[in-house]
Amino acid sequence: MSEPVVARTRTELATVLADVDSESAVVMTMGALHDGHLELVRAARRIVGDEGRVLVTIFVNPLQFGPGEDFGRYPRTFDADLAACAAEGVDIVFAPPRDEMYPDGEPSVTISPGHLGQELEGAVRPTHFAGVLTVVAKLLNLTAPTYAVFGEKDYQQLTLIRRMVTDLDMPYRIVGVPTVREADGLALSSRNRYLSADERSIARALSAALTEGVRAADQGRSAVLAAAQSVLDAHPDLEIDYLALRTPDLTAEAIEGDARLLVAARIGSTRLIDNVGVTLS
Ligand code: PAJ
Repeated sequence: MSEPVVARTRTELATVLADVDSESAVVMTMGALHDGHLELVRAARRIVGDEGRVLVTIFVNPLQFGPGEDFGRYPRTFDADLAACAAEGVDIVFAPPRDEMYPDGEPSVTISPGHLGQELEGAVRPTHFAGVLTVVAKLLNLTAPTYAVFGEKDYQQLTLIRRMVTDLDMPYRIVGVPTVREADGLALSSRNRYLSADERSIARALSAALTEGVRAADQGRSAVLAAAQSVLDAHPDLEIDYLALRTPDLTAEAIEGDARLLVAARIGSTRLIDNVGVTLS
């Protein structure tokens, strides 16, 4: 097991990248790595092969957290993250401090996520996706990968990153990886560690609702939403932000064919999201 090279500054990263003449794939994270993140790392390795380079970025991006959100308490577990990267054969870890990414405080030029950036997650977190897209654009430019790998767990984020790369002619190939789940269906998330034992058992309702929705797919849109809603309604401690059934690009309500069923809810002070693909007939 060879240790990844760790770069803390843009200059260190540029020095390491100067030696890379093969294809590369980047996995961007905020750390607190779990098996969902590591599945992206494995996908990255499969894509570039043994000859290619796999990069992981670890940066808790202040720009994508709103006031009162969990930036301060977001888990920071760098030593364990580095060990996990080493075990997966990651070649390069880029873990910059905040002022390396934002030397002037907040950047004055940012990426606007457009209309979709104000819907679903964006309706609850109005500055979130501008913060995400801005840091993703910076990290793409700094790591200059052939491929960038993102999880379907954050489906709206993945969709907006695809749009950004298309709309701004960025020369990177975006790859989506299916959501990794616990045995009971709960999507792995760094935020799951905030949950108490009681909250953890309630959290199961999110994926259970999506599963019930998918089971009703042959009865059409209303049946899917009703089936999912009835699972959520059985848990009064769950505060639902949205349950939505959209086209795969998220721009319209889904009526038939391929669709995405998405849910977001708060359990106590923890906010969780999940989604699944569904084909309506
Ligand atoms: P983070 O929440 O750390 O997630 C990093 C990547 O891991 C994202 O692409 C996310 O979709 C993926 N991921 C998380 N949980 C997953 C799961 N259970 N299964 C599959 N993939 C999973 O998303 C972010 O960080 C940030 O917004 C970032 C893109 C790094 C920009 O700051």
